[in-house]
Amino acid sequence: MTTDAIDERYRDANPRSREAFERQRKAIAGGYSHLARQLAPFPLFIQENWGARKRDADGHEYIDYWMGHGAMLLGHAHPAITQAIADQAGRGTHAGGETELATEWATLIKQSVPSAELVRFVASGGEATQMAMRLARAYTGKEIVVKFESSMHGWHDAAAVGGPPHGATRPPGVPDAVGNTLLLLPVNDLAAAERALTTRDDVAAVIMEPAGPHSETVPIDPGFLRGVRELTAQHGVLLIFDEVVSGFRYAIGGAQEHFGVIPDLTALGKIIGGGLPCGALVGAGEVMELFEWRADQHWQRSRMIPHSGTWNAAPVTAAAGVTALRLVRETGAGDRARALAQRLIGSINTLFSDLDVKAFAYGRSSIVRLCPGEAPPLVREDYSAAQADGRQLAAGWGPVGPVLRKAMILEGIDLMGTQGFLSAAHSEDDVDATCEALGRAIASMRKAGWL
Ligand SMILES: Cc1ncc(COP(=O)(O)O)c(C=O)c1O
Repeated sequence: MTTDAIDERYRDANPRSREAFERQRKAIAGGYSHLARQLAPFPLFIQENWGARKRDADGHEYIDYWMGHGAMLLGHAHPAITQAIADQAGRGTHAGGETELATEWATLIKQSVPSAELVRFVASGGEATQMAMRLARAYTGKEIVVKFESSMHGWHDAAAVGGPPHGATRPPGVPDAVGNTLLLLPVNDLAAAERALTTRDDVAAVIMEPAGPHSETVPIDPGFLRGVRELTAQHGVLLIFDEVVSGFRYAIGGAQEHFGVIPDLTALGKIIGGGLPCGALVGAGEVMELFEWRADQHWQRSRMIPHSGTWNAAPVTAAAGVTALRLVRETGAGDRARALAQRLIGSINTLFSDLDVKAFAYGRSSIVRLCPGEAPPLVREDYSAAQADGRQLAAGWGPVGPVLRKAMILEGIDLMGTQGFLSAAHSEDDVDATCEALGRAIASMRKAGWL
């Protein structure tokens, strides 16, 4: 097996990206600003994004499937959002005070997300999950938070155990005392969740991605979701949905609307900011009231969560967020992205079968994933072997993944690893062109001995 042919073509085609990376690794720690962007021998450097397209430093144009790590449901540089950002930037990028824009932004979220009685803004999705965990601990007076294997809730200490590449172990730098406050459980295993909640009295919350761990890499069993809701309610444990990815994508009201299961708290990010850095925690009024300042020393010291943050509800983000959420609510952007994703999944599966490639595409919403092997029952909403199927889906492609990604880059398609986020700015032609490009990428991978 050799990567030579694909790697060589990739190097030859991208001299400016290669040079840019040489400079960047001398200035930016680790050479990258996000672990998921890592690609050997060097990443693409992007100069421009518009609609569902991007152009790199060497002048190649791509159909984009990163879509701002899932944030750009409406496409890149949407004219109405760009205008809103420019208008607000001209009036100042920080108010040094409260703004009516933030109220409007929060109101749109309240009108959309079923669990949102009150909203509190932060500056990233990770901050929103961190805040959710702190709030749940403060509200219940308990310490343990249940998290499901393979789930992603941001990189901060409170959520760091259980993410790749460490699995159940603690990443370096996370104190034992913090790591031990997380209880890692298998997803789609209601008996395990029931055991944990009935045998322990120290659980403050269960946090989960309601569509399934790692942006639905492992699809959730809706029966499990309902079961966890019932169990948490029975045991006085708060249920936190991390809808940083699924929010406004699965439905306007997120996966909670889609599955009809309403949590106590919801972490939001990505789409709500219209392409600017954002995050929000929303939830039940009686829990969220712990953010309230009261002229009462006892309350301040023993109940109130002191929450600050220079960029919370920043006016430029709020302007972009208001415009984006109005458009998402009014234009059916989520439905369009979902229909395109399902078209792409269907045509990729036909292609794999025609070319006799042992792989499959899947996804219930507007995220498309490619996985090697036979499609397990879990991707057909058959949950009878959910544990084994989940392990297969979480394992993914291993070392073949980056080769597939580079083979697709050479064909004008920029996948996010081996997955793709669809947006309302993609077209049917984009989807069909992507499938044709995949056919050519498979041919070059076969020639290089990878498939
Ligand atoms: C499900 C989920 N939660 C939280 C986060 C963290 O969000 P952010 O990167 O905005 O901190 C991510 C990031 O991709 C995510 O996928």
